[in-house]
Amino acid sequence: MRTAAAATRPPLWLLAELTYRCPLHCVFCSNPIDYAQHRQELDTADWKRIFSEARALGAVQLGFSGGEPLLRDDLEELVAHARGLGFYTNLITSGVGLTEARAKALKAAGLDHIQLSFQDSTRELNDFLSSSRTFELKARVAGIIKSLGYPMVLNCVMHRYNLPHVGRIIQMAEAFGADYLELANTQYYGWAWLNRTALMPTVHELREAEGVVIAQRARLDGRMKVIWVSPDYADAKPKPCMAGWGAVFMVVAPDGTALPCHSARMLPGIAFPNLREQSVREAWFHSDGFQRYRGQAWMSSTCGSCDERGHDFGGCRCQAFLVTGDAAATDPVCPKSPQRGRIDAMLAGADAERACASGAVAPQPLRFVPGAAQQAG
Ligand code: FES
Repeated sequence: MRTAAAATRPPLWLLAELTYRCPLHCVFCSNPIDYAQHRQELDTADWKRIFSEARALGAVQLGFSGGEPLLRDDLEELVAHARGLGFYTNLITSGVGLTEARAKALKAAGLDHIQLSFQDSTRELNDFLSSSRTFELKARVAGIIKSLGYPMVLNCVMHRYNLPHVGRIIQMAEAFGADYLELANTQYYGWAWLNRTALMPTVHELREAEGVVIAQRARLDGRMKVIWVSPDYADAKPKPCMAGWGAVFMVVAPDGTALPCHSARMLPGIAFPNLREQSVREAWFHSDGFQRYRGQAWMSSTCGSCDERGHDFGGCRCQAFLVTGDAAATDPVCPKSPQRGRIDAMLAGADAERACASGAVAPQPLRFVPGAAQQAG
């Protein structure tokens, strides 16, 4: 029996993926692999209605994301509407398109905070991994964000290529005057899943980088908060993904599809609601998509009898599907999963990759996200 809708609390967090379009082509992009198939974006009126409905339900935080949300020329209007409703608003951006004039206009519209992504502390790697020449632009944008008094989070997705630079990445963020630095180890979904063999660090590389983070935190003494998002593959402990399926978080994709997480639309056999046709309330409380893995009734006997189920909420459904082919399976990261060996084999694969230096194993090529037009063609 599924969790009764009456026991479900309203969403607290709404993430508006305004567009899948993006000038960057990152090898770990969180866009769906087939993102070019989902072209029709919600219009301004639809987004405003969705924000109003979510706020009326009780949502308090609204993230503007993508793709690159600055490609929407109604972003200022949407921010103003959200702020007027009382949302705390943040912009999650690559920085491309954030001119001083636009940053001022967003400030005037009430934008509370900006998260700016970097790919590395060096121009070469930043530009290589995003297949774009954006390093200098990002540095300028960081200056604009600070000069206008926004709280600034720098975000850097970590993987085998940039983990050796972690100390320099922290120093770069410090030099920019970031308030927070989020070092988010790659989560293997979407494009990162395609590139997992090439991106995955060894456990030794991760531990070394974590040691640098711990030492730098002590040096910074609280002046800049450094957040290390540990990869659960190496920790052998399932993450409490999204704080539970359909518990606090709703993602709205550019075409209006409402999802419990960024990756869920690739799960087979689930009809996720579209907010062109349904209200936020209907989608959240009554759709199969949000009910499917809500609560604990869906859990296997392994998860349903585990003392950790109230903390990890059964781990990650998308990870379970990608690794085992069954979204309802015990998260394969968990030591209790009969499929844990698949994760261990991937970690062992990272060690084998290092044998490339000796010529024993052929290096894995990286697959870059094509432009939407290329992909659709
Ligand atoms: Fe979809 Fe974890 S990313 S449930």
